[in-house]
Amino acid sequence: MGTKQLYIETYGCQMNEYDTDRIKNALDAEPTDDPKNADIIIVNTCAIREKADQKAFSSLGKYKSIKANDPNVIVGISGCVAQLYGDKLLKKIPHLDFVLGPRAIPKLPDIISNIERKKRRTVETSYDIEELFEVEPYHQEGKVTAFVSVQQGCNKRCTYCIVPKVRGDEVNRPLDDILRETTSLVNKGVREITFIGQTVNSWKENGYKFGDLIRAAGEIEDLNRIRFTTSYPRDITKRMIDAMRDVPQVCHHLHLPVQSGSNKVLKGMKRTYTREWYVDTINRLKDAIPDLTVSTDIIIGFPGESDQDFEETMSLMREMEFESSYSFKFSPRPGTVAAEYSEDETVDPDLASARLTELQAYQKEITSTKNKNRVGLIEKVLVEGESRNDPEFLSGRTDHNRILNFKGSKDLLGKTVKVKVTEGLLNSLRGKLVV
Ligand code: 5AD
Repeated sequence: MGTKQLYIETYGCQMNEYDTDRIKNALDAEPTDDPKNADIIIVNTCAIREKADQKAFSSLGKYKSIKANDPNVIVGISGCVAQLYGDKLLKKIPHLDFVLGPRAIPKLPDIISNIERKKRRTVETSYDIEELFEVEPYHQEGKVTAFVSVQQGCNKRCTYCIVPKVRGDEVNRPLDDILRETTSLVNKGVREITFIGQTVNSWKENGYKFGDLIRAAGEIEDLNRIRFTTSYPRDITKRMIDAMRDVPQVCHHLHLPVQSGSNKVLKGMKRTYTREWYVDTINRLKDAIPDLTVSTDIIIGFPGESDQDFEETMSLMREMEFESSYSFKFSPRPGTVAAEYSEDETVDPDLASARLTELQAYQKEITSTKNKNRVGLIEKVLVEGESRNDPEFLSGRTDHNRILNFKGSKDLLGKTVKVKVTEGLLNSLRGKLVV
């Protein structure tokens, strides 16, 4: 029997992209872009909002006919929706062979061989803590950027969030293990690493704190860039800021979700900081790193959000002028505290939509102004590949995490080059190679 073909669809966060690559490696299968060619089809799902969660079901629906045509094809669901609904999924979706929680990836090879031998449908949502970081991701040859997981799960208890329920409590990966994986990626040609964790900067292990991890990564030869995501505001410490300032490979961009500009709402969300504390923290960061850019996440329409609360969020947007922001309408998730609020605290969906539109329009303006203001500047870009829309253009990101496309020869891949910005668009920049 030859190598199996794996088709895997991925939704959600970077953690999920990383898990998809771990699944590819665990199965040692050949990835295919066409589900019709696949021996194994997996939908790797996200449960953060109801919309994402529903996508999982419509996706799985697409594979019903493939399974009907060839019963030997194995169809599975992984990720947070799998963990959330467990064996209910087998009842609901008759063509589903397995349900795999996000912490159970190391068990996947056994699950598949069991299904092949015994034709038994399987649900696996338990895990062994020692195995958590055992399966490393598949690395596509030639790729110059990579994620490295430093932490799984989350110890925060934000009242809207389902992550602790589906990904469990925080487990931090040992420093040596992180550095070993990072070094091995660098030896394969990777030049930029993004450390990932649910609250990445709360990482601590054996007396080491996040700032120490950054300093240690800064010692790895030929690693040109260090990024990390997602940071939790209250875990920003002096030790972390000092390390960000001192380690030249650290990119000067920080994603720091604020969620709301209203202290009342922040309290209801159990975010454990106030608006003033958040602003002060960004100021401390910018004192140390003057050109630092910041992006954020916002939830609109959290239960009880009044016009005044929303106005406070807008005033924070004006005060901070975030580089970019991801904003979402509040979505009640099963089992979370915020899903239990009484009906009279629910924000009218049309009102929430109007607020979201207003916030997003404002952000668009800020982002495009900021991008236009880069015109004429020379940026350092790590060349990641061809531009998606035009193969004549190369594409990479600036230190501040903006996409910059420019004409150049393909042998610049993996190199850091200087590019003069000629055009600032909404989602990217264009420029000219400086020689
Ligand atoms: N409803 C809406 N948005 C949510 N997020 C997390 N949970 C919810 C929810 N229940 C958003 C937060 C988080 C981002 C990843 O998703 O803004 O930072």
